[in-house]
Amino acid sequence: MAILVTGGAGYIGSAMVERLLASGRSVVVLDNLSRGHREAVPASVPLEVGDVCDPAFVSRVFDTHPVDAVFHFAAESLVGESMTDPGKYFRNNVGGVLTLLETMASHTARRFVLSSTAATYGDPEEVPIQETFPTQPTNPYGESKLICERLLHWFGRIHGIRWTSLRYFNAAGATPTVGEDHSPETHLIPLALDAAFGRRDPLRVFGLDYPTPDGTCVRDYIHIEDLADAHLLALEYQERSEWGIFNLGNGQGFSVLEVIESVQRVSGRRVPWEPAERRAGDPPRLVASSERARKELGWNPKRDSLDEIIASALRWRDAHPNGYGD
Ligand code: UFG
Repeated sequence: MAILVTGGAGYIGSAMVERLLASGRSVVVLDNLSRGHREAVPASVPLEVGDVCDPAFVSRVFDTHPVDAVFHFAAESLVGESMTDPGKYFRNNVGGVLTLLETMASHTARRFVLSSTAATYGDPEEVPIQETFPTQPTNPYGESKLICERLLHWFGRIHGIRWTSLRYFNAAGATPTVGEDHSPETHLIPLALDAAFGRRDPLRVFGLDYPTPDGTCVRDYIHIEDLADAHLLALEYQERSEWGIFNLGNGQGFSVLEVIESVQRVSGRRVPWEPAERRAGDPPRLVASSERARKELGWNPKRDSLDEIIASALRWRDAHPNGYGD
């Protein structure tokens, strides 16, 4: 039997593929290569290139491979973009999950792990955020993932699909072979690293007037290998439970300015930056309580120092100065 990794050519999906291969599992990747890279998928892994929202294509993939579980990474994931093009987020994120679930219902696969997000919570009244907190997204991206969770609830009840929603906080870092290469790049850590090495313009810090200690947004950065570990634990959890929702973060918040300081410490270079307007849709503080994942999944994130996470990203960038284009 095989695990279907949608978005397996992308940043977090390719770290998942690497982890699955290391654990001896059989893997199939589905990716439309709109943001992912063919080079990120090992030659030994079947790569089905197409759209996760296309029922005929997805059905062919399930007819061709003995899929028994789906790890679903293929999605739109940019908070800022979702505030200017909400339709893209609802169409692709909700449409992708719906297509997969309908295909699963007519095939034998009965396990699903969703890459969900901290953006489902919106602007929480307090941190760390527990899974029981209200979900009131401040952007269409978070709302689209919340709708995906509701689809899972109903397909779980009606078709017996076991499901886990993993609400990631800020995915970061790299493995020696898998790293972050988005085009355009919008994420803080790769942009700060590139600014430090003069590969880009100075970093623009979006908002210095947030209600946080230094006025910049606070986020909880979690290494992609720790995220991948949680997916394997979620599969085991599905043996004993029909569904579950888990936050995945380190439980420690860092402001944008603290991330800049860490990049400076790790790289030994100054990060040039300038103040900029707030970015629409950004909540001031997102920090996870991952107590539930620790207790119920047995998850124990191992790469929990921000400097270490940033150092891994820097090593990958040094080894791949042009990303996967090398
Ligand atoms: N930021 C800047 N300047 C930049 C880029 C980012 O100041 O050039 C700030 C953002 O405003 C934000 C923080 O740095 O406050 C982190 O921004 P990212 O774009 O790196 O990440 P986000 O927090 O917007 O979003 C990420 C993922 C989402 C996920 C979210 C969960 O991209 O998919 O984390 O916390 F939902």
